[in-house]
Amino acid sequence: MSGNGQKYDLDFLGGRRLRRPRMTGWSRDLVRENVLTPGDLIWPIFVIEGQNEQQPVKTMPGVSRMSIDLAVEAAKAARAEGIPAVALFPNTAADKRSEDGKEALNRDNLVCRALSAIKDAVPEIGLVADVALDPYTTHGHDGVMAGEEILNDETVEILTRQALVQAQSGADVIAPSDMMDGRIGAIRAVLDGEGLERTIVLSYAAKYASAFYGPFRDAVGSGARLRGSKLTYQMDPANAEDAIREVEQDLAEGADWIMVKPGMPYLDICRLIKDRFDVPVFAYQVSGEYAMIAIAAEAGAIDREAAMAESLMAFKRAGCSGILTYFALEMARKLNG
Ligand code: PBG
Repeated sequence: MSGNGQKYDLDFLGGRRLRRPRMTGWSRDLVRENVLTPGDLIWPIFVIEGQNEQQPVKTMPGVSRMSIDLAVEAAKAARAEGIPAVALFPNTAADKRSEDGKEALNRDNLVCRALSAIKDAVPEIGLVADVALDPYTTHGHDGVMAGEEILNDETVEILTRQALVQAQSGADVIAPSDMMDGRIGAIRAVLDGEGLERTIVLSYAAKYASAFYGPFRDAVGSGARLRGSKLTYQMDPANAEDAIREVEQDLAEGADWIMVKPGMPYLDICRLIKDRFDVPVFAYQVSGEYAMIAIAAEAGAIDREAAMAESLMAFKRAGCSGILTYFALEMARKLNG
C-alpha cells in the first residue's frame, strides 16, 4: 500500500520477487554462492628474537610480533583450527641490517630459525616464506641500490640465494614479494638445481605500490628507514593491463600460484586474473586493510567480526583460492564456532 492507501500494480515483476529466497535462513543457506572455510586462510606472523616475547604492533590492534617459541605455538593453534599455512615475516635487529641486506642469506637468521622450528614442531602446516630484502636493508627497499636506483639483476641474484636458504630451512612455499623482473625463473632454476623441485613458488605477481602497507612496515621495522618510494618496482594503482602482463610473465617463468596485493582495493584484479588464467589466485588482505577494520571497530564505527567476515567472503566471490589475512586465526575460530 502506498502512503495514501492506494495499491501499486507490480505486474511488471512478472511474479519474480528476488526477496523471496532471502526471507528465511534455511533458504539463504541453500542458495549461497560462495563459502569461506578455515582452509582458505593463510596467517601472516611477525617474528622477533627472544623467548616468550610478544610485542603488540601499535597500528594493528590485536596483532603482535612473536618470538619463535610463541610462533610455534601460534602455528599449532592455527593448524588445530584448520588453517593450512602460515607466512613468516621477521623483524630483523638493527645491527643485522645493511645496505646490501646480506643477513637475508644467513642460514641461521631469524626467519630461517623460525621456519625450521615450526617445521619440526608442526610438520603438518604449510610454511610460506617472503622473498625480498626490505626486512634486512638499512634503506628499507626490497632490493640493493646504486645511488637512488634499485638494481634489478643484482637483486635477483641475491634473492635466488635468499629463496634457497629459506627452502632449505623448511619453507614449503617461496613467495617473492620484491617485484624485480625475472626473479621467478631465476628462483625456480636455483631451487630445481638444488633438488627442491617440490617447493612451490607463489608469486606476488600483481603487487601495487600501496599506502596500505604502512602498518606492516612498522611491524617489520622498515617504515621509518624507507628511503624514497617503491614506485620504480611495485605497480601503479591505476593499471590493470600491467597486472595481466606480470602474471603472464611469472607463469611463463614457472610460478605455481599467483598473488594480488593489496586485496580489497584490488578485487577487480583478482577477478580479472582468475577469468583470464587457469591458476590459483591468492589475495593479501594487507596490514592497512586490517588496521582500517580493527581501528574502526575500536572506535565503535563498525562491528569487527561482521566486517572481518564480510571482507574475507569478498575474496571468495572475486575468485580467490585463498587469502593471506591477519584475521586468519580469529576468522577460523569464528567459522569453527
Ligand atoms: C615487502 C612486503 C611488504 C608487505 C609484504 N611484503 C611491504 C612492502 O612492499 O613495502 C606488505 C604486507 C602488509 O602490508 O600486510 N616485501
